[in-house]
Amino acid sequence: MHLGDCVEVTKRLPDESVDLSVFSPPFPGMYTYSNSVRDIGNAKGIDDLMAHFAFLAPELLRVTKPGRSAFVHLTQYVAHINSDGFAGLKDFRGRTIEMMQEAGWRYYGEITIDKNPQVKAIRTKDRRPAVQDARDRFEHDARRLARLGTSLPQGRREPEPD
Ligand SMILES: C[S@@+](CC[C@H](N)C(=O)[O-])C[C@H]1O[C@@H](n2cnc3c(N)ncnc32)[C@H](O)[C@@H]1O
Repeated sequence: MHLGDCVEVTKRLPDESVDLSVFSPPFPGMYTYSNSVRDIGNAKGIDDLMAHFAFLAPELLRVTKPGRSAFVHLTQYVAHINSDGFAGLKDFRGRTIEMMQEAGWRYYGEITIDKNPQVKAIRTKDRRPAVQDARDRFEHDARRLARLGTSLPQGRREPEPD
């Protein structure tokens, strides 16, 4: 087990020695994780954060065995009126994919994790009304169900209840 700045620690690891990395980078503008200048979460904005994060990506690739993966868990950057001039989202996901590709990684795929919209809105101080989130979520689920329905054999009937 290693404890330290991930950039410095990863630099000390031998080439092609890691099978899988799973990590969650700091989400820009959302939390204060520590008071260290080494903390990527203490960046001034998303550009600053990406510049700091970019020190890790090539080292991570160097230590990863050929053909193996890094799983990066993240969320989109919530933009705030005071600091960003608008309330909405910035594409932290896209920036991360782009930055890792520039370091030599290949983008392979992704999984979306649904979260309770009201809890998320309260935690992230998202200004979008929770009811709008709930409606988006309902429509999303309805579309998924509709796709499932169209993939069932045509004319199939539901079984009669016992
Ligand atoms: C989104 S949190 C994820 C935390 C962790 N995955 C967990 O579940 O406890 C990001 C974490 O990365 C840490 N971090 C930021 N910069 C770092 C660095 N250079 N080296 C190591 N950890 C760092 C932050 O302090 C924060 O704890």
